[in-house]
Amino acid sequence: MPQIFIDGQPFEARTEQTVLEAAQEHGVYIPRLCWHPKLSIAGNCRICVVQIEGRSWVEISCNMPVSEGLRVLTDSDLVRAHRKATMQFITLNHPVDCGICDKAGECTLQDYHAAYNGEASVSREPKVASTKFYSLSERITLDNERCILCTRCVRFTREISKSHALGVQERGDHSVIRPAGSLGSKTLDEDAYSDNIVDICPVGALLSKSFLYKSRVWYLKATPSVCPGCERGCAIDIWHRRPEWFVHSLDAAQNCAIERVTPRDNPAVNGPWVCNKARDLAQVFERPRAEAPMRKGRVVALDEALSAARALVERSRHAVALVSSAGSNEELQAFQGALGGRFTSFVKRDAMPLPGEVVADDLLIRADKNPNGFTARALFGGAEVAFAPETDLVLVWGQGVEFSRLPRGVPVIFLDAFMQPENGHADVFFPLSLQTERAGHYTNFAGVTSGFEACFAKPASVVHAEDVFRSLAPVKALTQAVSP
Ligand code: SF4
Ligand code: SF4
Ligand code: FES
Repeated sequence: MPQIFIDGQPFEARTEQTVLEAAQEHGVYIPRLCWHPKLSIAGNCRICVVQIEGRSWVEISCNMPVSEGLRVLTDSDLVRAHRKATMQFITLNHPVDCGICDKAGECTLQDYHAAYNGEASVSREPKVASTKFYSLSERITLDNERCILCTRCVRFTREISKSHALGVQERGDHSVIRPAGSLGSKTLDEDAYSDNIVDICPVGALLSKSFLYKSRVWYLKATPSVCPGCERGCAIDIWHRRPEWFVHSLDAAQNCAIERVTPRDNPAVNGPWVCNKARDLAQVFERPRAEAPMRKGRVVALDEALSAARALVERSRHAVALVSSAGSNEELQAFQGALGGRFTSFVKRDAMPLPGEVVADDLLIRADKNPNGFTARALFGGAEVAFAPETDLVLVWGQGVEFSRLPRGVPVIFLDAFMQPENGHADVFFPLSLQTERAGHYTNFAGVTSGFEACFAKPASVVHAEDVFRSLAPVKALTQAVSP
């Protein structure tokens, strides 16, 4: 372990580290624009310069290996002067349109300008004009005037998603990011991970069309969650309006809308990436909701629905449950504790691959499109769904069941969150809360358990599945379920 000195302080570094990485590990921040921990080193922005003691020039730290006795200065007069000059250079043609830029509030260039430059441009030349809206894909637009040509986006498509979708065209101040269009490259539309380039772009050059001009980021709060799109269970942040910025006029639905979804770095699960399916969770969660309990299509009070379902459970002798593989660990355990002894339970797949969706790959995407098959199968086994002839009650929890394939004439209790014809066909229907309305945990295919928190309050008329299961428990099972 080489010992290095950063600003006079001795630190133990690891042989494979660069000065920038070793400094970061020990809490010394060196600015960076083109460097990213998961991408190759490009060394093109020059903002990460440091000075080796005794030398009269600066060098980039993102590509400087540590060595025994190395003494670097990260904040000398020379370093500060070069950083300032570099910021002047990088912003030479950068427009001053932070007021309308989606990245404002989380833009590295904005922060560095305040920290390391802080002065108006010294240039007397007009800024080079370039394309403001270049559509790179159905999902992403590019503002070439804001691009600082760090090439993070290009390296991401080459090294991580492997679509090779992007490249740099032209030279000097004519350089622009464009679709690569080369032999063997895919388009950005074909890249299932494309939206990660919006996150890693250090400026507001790459913009998500679904978030474009939708909200200022300081109005939003990020709630930790887990993507339910497949059994990987990627860690995500769901962004929604902060309570202190709730709108009290216009459309109040904005207060409980998912504004955007971004990855939350979890090295044990997804690293800093997610696939585009996570970005589109609003389309899943904001489908028309079922909000009223029903008996054979007739809206009833929750108490009446519970009494009717309880009577069906008590009368049954051969009850079958089709258990959700999208239920949380807490919900699955609640079902097992309250009703597991009463039902023969089978784990079903609530979700299957959608047409056109990448089914599986060797980066993140898994073929099982349910977040918690791991816990469901651990509790209820992996047997195929089968109905014995004597089946006298079926409980369906969640999606993925064709009602026409259930045994004819057998009463059905159905629990789900969304509006669909099957709700009215069930003998008793319970409208469930969404993942964004409760806290819980999923355990992914590799056995890693991740937690999610509630973003919004549930509508008063919907119920948590856990509460329904406990209410339906025969008295003996309930006593067992709640005893320590
Ligand atoms: S678009 Fe963003 S990530 Fe890509 S080169 Fe430009 S500044 Fe870098
Ligand atoms: S890989 Fe699976 S869990 Fe991760 S973001 Fe994509 S769909 Fe969601
Ligand atoms: S971060 Fe080192 S040159 Fe860009």
